[in-house]
Amino acid sequence: MKVAFVTSEMFPFSKTGGLADIAYFLPKGLAKLNTDMTVFTPYYRTARIDFNLLSFLGKKTIRMGGIETDVNYFTYDFEGVKVIFVQNMHYFERDRLYGYNDDAERFTCFSYAVLEGLELLDHMPDLLHINDWQTGMIPYLYEKHYKGKFTYSKLRITMTIHNMEYQGNFDTYVARFFNHDFDYEYIHFDRVNFLKTGILKSDKINTVSPSYRNEILSLDYGFSLDGILNYRKNDLVGILNGIDDETFNPEKDKFIENYNFSNYKAGKLAAKKKVYDAFHLDKTYEKTLVIYIGRYANQKGLWMIQNSLEDLIHHSDAQFFFLGSGDPNYENFFKVMTEKYPGRVGNYIGFNERLAHELYAASDIFLMPSEFEPCGLGQMISMKYGSLPVVRETGGLKDTVLPYNQYTGEGTGFSFKNLSMIDFKDKVFEAIMLKKNNPKIWDSLVRQAMEKDYSMEKMAKAYLEFYKTIIGG
Ligand code: GLC
Repeated sequence: MKVAFVTSEMFPFSKTGGLADIAYFLPKGLAKLNTDMTVFTPYYRTARIDFNLLSFLGKKTIRMGGIETDVNYFTYDFEGVKVIFVQNMHYFERDRLYGYNDDAERFTCFSYAVLEGLELLDHMPDLLHINDWQTGMIPYLYEKHYKGKFTYSKLRITMTIHNMEYQGNFDTYVARFFNHDFDYEYIHFDRVNFLKTGILKSDKINTVSPSYRNEILSLDYGFSLDGILNYRKNDLVGILNGIDDETFNPEKDKFIENYNFSNYKAGKLAAKKKVYDAFHLDKTYEKTLVIYIGRYANQKGLWMIQNSLEDLIHHSDAQFFFLGSGDPNYENFFKVMTEKYPGRVGNYIGFNERLAHELYAASDIFLMPSEFEPCGLGQMISMKYGSLPVVRETGGLKDTVLPYNQYTGEGTGFSFKNLSMIDFKDKVFEAIMLKKNNPKIWDSLVRQAMEKDYSMEKMAKAYLEFYKTIIGG
């Protein structure tokens, strides 16, 4: 089977969120299952690759809405996957990935470039796997401009939704770039909506956990697209994400002193020493370290952390660390807390790969009280590193974290149901107290968490089966 995977970000070349990680893990996992994998991704300024390792594949001229622009294609062999960087000096040579006035134009250009670029491959793929709103116009443009051509006629398209909140919502002005008469298919509430178009026009659709798949069919989680999702319900499935063992595994992790369950305390101590030293935290290594790693976005339920942190500091002896960036309100809040409680609280604004690995290894408790969570990778990583997650029961968090049951002793973390700061605070206290007072039970939960298998292999196998239902055989 030949699959072309299309993504607006891919680790380690570009990253703003979990999509980048999955765009790295999934093609890699599928390639290991003998799927012929090509990835199309924009060649951003951030992707600093040795020019000598890139081979020039070809060039195409994209014409859209009266604009003419050239794109170059470079291939790069990367861990069994053929990555094709789509280069356009005007649209992608910028400091950020998104957030420009011409985003619609930029990703429409990328979409044409992918469809045009298929002709440069040795073989036309059987399936185009697109991701999120940035690629949502592809099935529409395919139908209007490429489907009739013989070489393209058998192509099928499937779309993965990693997040319903970001939809690519633009003024109807941008419709001129689609080179076609005005259409209602891409309109949603009087605006052009890329995600809606992808949902409507793809052969199949999936999202990244079974629970989120069901949640988005409801008014509360559908972000106004629940109607169209219900319309496509029979073609919508949920497939759980997985994490790559070569990247996230305390036994092999190149950033830390390696450990497994039998010596996890020593492993955590070594990692704590490094982090506490670098960030001037009190060297009370026996106390509990509670962390948050992720985007600073409302989606993540950070207001619950913001409103309970000082209580948690006053009524426990735990230490806290926050790593991430985004909303300046939260960036500022964590900075202020670090200044107000030196030694107890630490923070780092931005993305820092090494520090993230060190923190997963060092920590005892991982916070993720998301309002909604399509899948979430942090909780899966933290469990693998023996850091027990405190999560809200939603989406992928519900599907991956088994809440501690005091009667059976089963559990891989802690969870609460309602969007309530009090419930969140209670759970964090419960976790801190359990670790302090019941080290035996804590050990058993850590073992159960570390043994959980949310692997890249599992995810890749599930996608392969899904692909077969789309192209048959
Ligand atoms: C988005 C979602 C997150 C998911 C990731 C990868 O970032 O918010 O839940 O894990 O995409 O699919």
